[in-house]
Amino acid sequence: MNPITFEDLQAPLFVAWQINSACNLECLHCCEEAGHRIPGELNKQEVFHFLQQIVELNIPYVAISGGEPFLHPHFFTICEFLSKHNISIKVETNGEFIDEEKAKKIAQLRFRSVQISLDGATASTHERLRLRGDWNKAVSACRLLIKKGVNTEIVFVPTKFNIQEIGQLIDLAYSLGVYGIYTGKIMRIGRAAKNWDILCPSEKDYESFFKTLNDKVDYYDGKMKVYYYPYDVIEELKYRLKFPAASLLVLPNGKVKLIGPLPFICGDLKKQSLTEVWQNYKRAWRNPKVIEFAQRVIANPKLLAESNRWRKV
Ligand SMILES: C[S@@+](CC[C@H](N)C(=O)[O-])C[C@H]1O[C@@H](n2cnc3c(N)ncnc32)[C@H](O)[C@@H]1O
Repeated sequence: MNPITFEDLQAPLFVAWQINSACNLECLHCCEEAGHRIPGELNKQEVFHFLQQIVELNIPYVAISGGEPFLHPHFFTICEFLSKHNISIKVETNGEFIDEEKAKKIAQLRFRSVQISLDGATASTHERLRLRGDWNKAVSACRLLIKKGVNTEIVFVPTKFNIQEIGQLIDLAYSLGVYGIYTGKIMRIGRAAKNWDILCPSEKDYESFFKTLNDKVDYYDGKMKVYYYPYDVIEELKYRLKFPAASLLVLPNGKVKLIGPLPFICGDLKKQSLTEVWQNYKRAWRNPKVIEFAQRVIANPKLLAESNRWRKV
């Protein structure tokens, strides 16, 4: 008997949802090129129509990102709805809007996790990459959440500027009491693609980065989760061509992207049901146009710069 694949499923197992594109920061490496509101973002009625379908299809897990999700006018209403239906929620945030009151609300909603982006062990390094960012606010968000018992994680994206601070950052993460710290190679997408020459770490930088990570994995074994994904976005794409994920990547305007590194849109939640979009997604991975373009990207990673120039499959 053949093993079950994503094609056998009637719905995705996971939805990654960029609920907005507005952001208070302008990170040099932002894969979403967030910062301004894009036209046609889902309105409240459309958002709840989408949420209702998530419930009806029994999708167990939603990761909310942005933009900066805490800037979304209905952020907590969305989370309340998901939590009421026992759907696991992860939120990816820069942490800057999390105060005592929001931390309390988050704790009450029993998020599966809150991931705070911390791109340096020091304020100057973090703020050099995260333009208009405030490292102290991000660290304070970790403290507030941990105090309220929220499962808090730190995410670090390595670049030429900050890669040397990984060891120090992991130690800081432990002293804060986070559940885990997550990292991997920077994805050459969005502003990271535009700024690739100034951001991309060298092979030597990565060598010592992964060595430090391996040492820290051992050192913090049983005390804190130190997790890294060792593959870059091209290796990921090669893998996904064979084994597509059982997940959907939903953009703020309701369009659904096939996968981050490719520009293809496989559905539109303003016009189609979630089930229809899921069927389109499954078909799109077998579409010769998609396969041919993906092969070209694999041969020439500079084409990753096109990943946010959305086009229909
Ligand atoms: C796009 S951000 C949006 C959420 C929130 N505004 C924040 O700053 O965390 C979501 C996650 O993607 C990560 N990220 C952004 N650009 C990236 C890139 N080029 N490669 C890998 N991760 C990236 C961020 O560090 C963050 O953890």
